[in-house]
Amino acid sequence: MIDITVRDEDVTGYAGPALVVAVPSGEAPLNEAARAVDERLDGLIARLRAAGEIKGGLGETTILHTLGKLPAERIIVVGAGDPAKLTVAGLRRMAASAARAARKAGLSSYATTVYRREDLPAVTDAQLLAEGTILGLYRFDGYRESDVKDVRDMAVLPRALDRAEVEEGIRRGREIAAGVTLARDLINEPPNVLTPAELARRAQAMAHEQGLSCEVFDREKMRELGMAAILGVAEGSDEPPAFIILRHGAPRAGAPAGPCLVGKGITFDSGGISIKPAENMHQMKGDMGGAAAVIGAMRALAGLGVTGAVTAIVPTTENLLGGRAQTPGDIVRAMNGVTIEIINTDAEGRLVLADALSYAVQEGYAPLVDVATLTGAAGVALGPVYTAVFANEDGTATAVLDAAQAAGEKMWRLPLDEAYEELIKSDVADIKNTGGRAGGAVTAAMFLQHFVDDKPWAHLDIAPTSWSDKDEGERAKGGSGVAVRTLIALVEALVSA
Ligand code: BES
Ligand code: MN
Ligand code: ZN
Repeated sequence: MIDITVRDEDVTGYAGPALVVAVPSGEAPLNEAARAVDERLDGLIARLRAAGEIKGGLGETTILHTLGKLPAERIIVVGAGDPAKLTVAGLRRMAASAARAARKAGLSSYATTVYRREDLPAVTDAQLLAEGTILGLYRFDGYRESDVKDVRDMAVLPRALDRAEVEEGIRRGREIAAGVTLARDLINEPPNVLTPAELARRAQAMAHEQGLSCEVFDREKMRELGMAAILGVAEGSDEPPAFIILRHGAPRAGAPAGPCLVGKGITFDSGGISIKPAENMHQMKGDMGGAAAVIGAMRALAGLGVTGAVTAIVPTTENLLGGRAQTPGDIVRAMNGVTIEIINTDAEGRLVLADALSYAVQEGYAPLVDVATLTGAAGVALGPVYTAVFANEDGTATAVLDAAQAAGEKMWRLPLDEAYEELIKSDVADIKNTGGRAGGAVTAAMFLQHFVDDKPWAHLDIAPTSWSDKDEGERAKGGSGVAVRTLIALVEALVSA
C-alpha cells in the first residue's frame, strides 16, 4: 500500500517528481495553490484553460513539465469539475485519477495539495484524499510478475490547513481503505486458494493483527447447533464448511450485545445440482463478497479504534455438486426450527444466511445487518449502480441509507411486504427457497425475514455492485469491496448513539 506522509512544505518549495493541484471546469477561479503554481509557470495553466486544453472535467488529468520554473519536475493538473457540483465521491475520484496518472507516468513518488470542498472539515477532505489514492491504485497482482516499479509514496502538503487535522484524516482514510482493500483481495483470490477453511484462516490472521477475537465452528459444532440449512449446501463439496465469528469490543455488563454484521460466504457458487451456465461462472468466486465486506469492515473498525461491541458472522461453504450434494426436493430444518423445501440448489445464499441469522438472534445481537451477493434479480431491478436495501423497520433502513450516503455508496430501499409471502409458501414445508423470477430480490429478502425473529434487521443485496467490470474512480476491476464503507459509517453511528 502506498505510503502517505504529511509534509510542511509549500507548493513552490516541494522538490520532487510531481505535484498535484486541482483545477475546476469552466471559468471558476483557480484555488490558491493552483494560482501560486500558475504564477511560477508564467500563466501556463491559465493559458491552457483558455485554449480548452485543460477543461477541468472531474477527474481529468494533464501533466505539465515545469522545466526548472518550479522545484517540482511536473505538475499533475486534476480536474475538479463544476465547484457547485463537487461531491464527496468527486473528491475521492480526483485523488484516484491523480494517483493513476502518477502511476502511468512511471513515478515512484509525488506530492499533492489537499483539494477541498470548503464546507467540509479539513479532516474529511484529507480522509477522502487518502481513500481515493489508495483505492484508485489498488490492483490484485499476487499471481503474476508485475512491474516492480509502482508509486510508493505520496506527500500531502497541508499548506494553510491544520496539520493535525490533515494527519487525522489521512489516518482515517488509510484504515478505511485498508478494510476495503482486504475485502477486494478476498474477493479476487481464486476459489482454489480461498476455500472456506482459508477464508477462516484469513479472518483469524486479521483478528490476531487487529486485536479482535475470532472463533470458528466446524461441521461438528454446526451440527450440534442444528444448522442443517448451511450443512445441506456444504454436502455437495469436499471442502469443509466453517462458521466464523469475529468480535470487537465487549458490551458493558447488562448492556445489549450490540450490532451484528452477517456476510454470505460462498467461496464458489456453481449453482449445485441446479447448475449455472458456464458463461461468466468464474465470477462466482466473488460469491463471498458479503463475507469480504463484513471482514473488511471489522478490520477497519478495529483500526479506527471504534469503542463499543460489534460482532461479525460469516457462514462459509462452497456450493458444488458432489455425489452427496443437496438436490431439489430436499427439505432441511434451519437452526430456528423453520423447515425449508429446496426448489433450486442455486438459491443457496439464503440457506447459509438462515442459520447465521438464527444464531445471531439467539445470541441477542441487534440490529442485524446482512450483506450478500444474493440475487441476479437485484441487478435486474437496479443495474450495476445501486445496492438494494431491505429492512423490517424504518429506523434501521434510515440508519443504513444515511450511512451509505455519508460513505458515498449508492443504496436504494426496496420493499418487504406480507403480500409477497404467498410466493415462497411450500406445499410440504414451512417455506421454499425460491419465489420465482418476478420480484426475485424481494422474495429472497422475504425468505431471510423468517430467520430474524423480531430483531431490527437490514439486508443488503450486493449481487450487482460487488464486482466492477472496469477501473473507474476509486473502483478497480474485480471485487469492489462495496458496503465496507457503509458498514463502518453505520457501526460508528450506532455505537456512538
Ligand atoms: N450468487 C448468486 C447471485 C448472483 C448472481 C451473485 C449474479 C452475483 C452475480 C445466487 O446464489 C444465485 O444463484 N441466485 C439465484 C437465485 C434463484 C435461483 C432464485 C439467481 O439470482 O438467479
Ligand atoms: Mn447461487
Ligand atoms: Zn450464490
